[in-house]
Amino acid sequence: MDRNLALNLVRVTEAAALQSARHLGRGDQNLADQAAVDGMRKMFDTLSIDGVVVIGEGERDEAPMLYIGEQIGRATENSIKVDIAVDPLDGTMAVAKGLANAISVVAVAPRGCLLHAPDIYMNKIAAGPKAVGKINLEAPMEENLKNLSKALNKDISEITVTMLDRPRNEYLVREVRKAGARIKLFQDGDVAAAIATCLEDSGADIMVGIGGAPEGVLAAAALKCMGGEFQGKLWIRNEDERTRCKDMGLSNIDKLLTMEDLAKGKEIMFSATGVSDGELLKGVIYYENNMAKTHSVVMRSETGTIRFIEAIHRLEKKPKYAK
Ligand code: FBP
Repeated sequence: MDRNLALNLVRVTEAAALQSARHLGRGDQNLADQAAVDGMRKMFDTLSIDGVVVIGEGERDEAPMLYIGEQIGRATENSIKVDIAVDPLDGTMAVAKGLANAISVVAVAPRGCLLHAPDIYMNKIAAGPKAVGKINLEAPMEENLKNLSKALNKDISEITVTMLDRPRNEYLVREVRKAGARIKLFQDGDVAAAIATCLEDSGADIMVGIGGAPEGVLAAAALKCMGGEFQGKLWIRNEDERTRCKDMGLSNIDKLLTMEDLAKGKEIMFSATGVSDGELLKGVIYYENNMAKTHSVVMRSETGTIRFIEAIHRLEKKPKYAK
């Protein structure tokens, strides 16, 4: 894939962030999400790709834009055929409440390389490059922490485990405490939290717990680029969810999903832009004279380059992002 597509993906997440950040703390999660979707969709229209959304805002009948199966981009005869995974706003509630950690996210891969996951839950484990081959979602927590402790050459009591603060993850809190590691809970945004495990200065060594399945595919794409480890297992709550998985073509629903199952191959691209302040990325900052600053990270699995991009936008020259 043309490497410059990665930089165009930054434009896509920047556009979503610039639109939705205006709704920070205004109490309306739908408006914040809609703004992100609009911004992202418009920017996608400028790209010469033959894309199809495989992870999006929902099924066709429930989402007017960026729905699963939607054709994206200005395709020409020579356009590359790609799968697109989006979460225009990962952290809709965070933006509505003015809380941390909301980002806009996109991953792109050659057609057929990203898992088509319905909007259900997924049990996840994520860690940085040193943990590759050392952790297993199906192993007991204590065993994973012991192995991680060896791989990172630090005591279990110095390992920080991050997880979404949800009642369904409380059993993991108990297991981690029993094993003697530290815990950092977060309210929203497990894509950013998974990425943080690959960045040494983040202070996060491993992320565990049940979050969204679409976010699992996006996190796997990011960690593929970063050389980290990610595994997931769909967390099915009822027959309806099982049927939805089957309808989407998932054959072995109870399988442990590796990074290769979630984001196949070597040509994965990923971009995220901060909407509200987070440990990974700062949120959008609005300056005087109709200017704004965004903070993004963009990466490609082919080279493993991780670029942090700070951009100053002159919004009067970009009328579509204006108030
Ligand atoms: P949305 O903004 O798309 O709702 O996702 C935010 C998020 O925190 C994800 O990062 C996470 O995977 C998911 O919600 C967890 O779902 P729930 O909020 O239902 O526990």
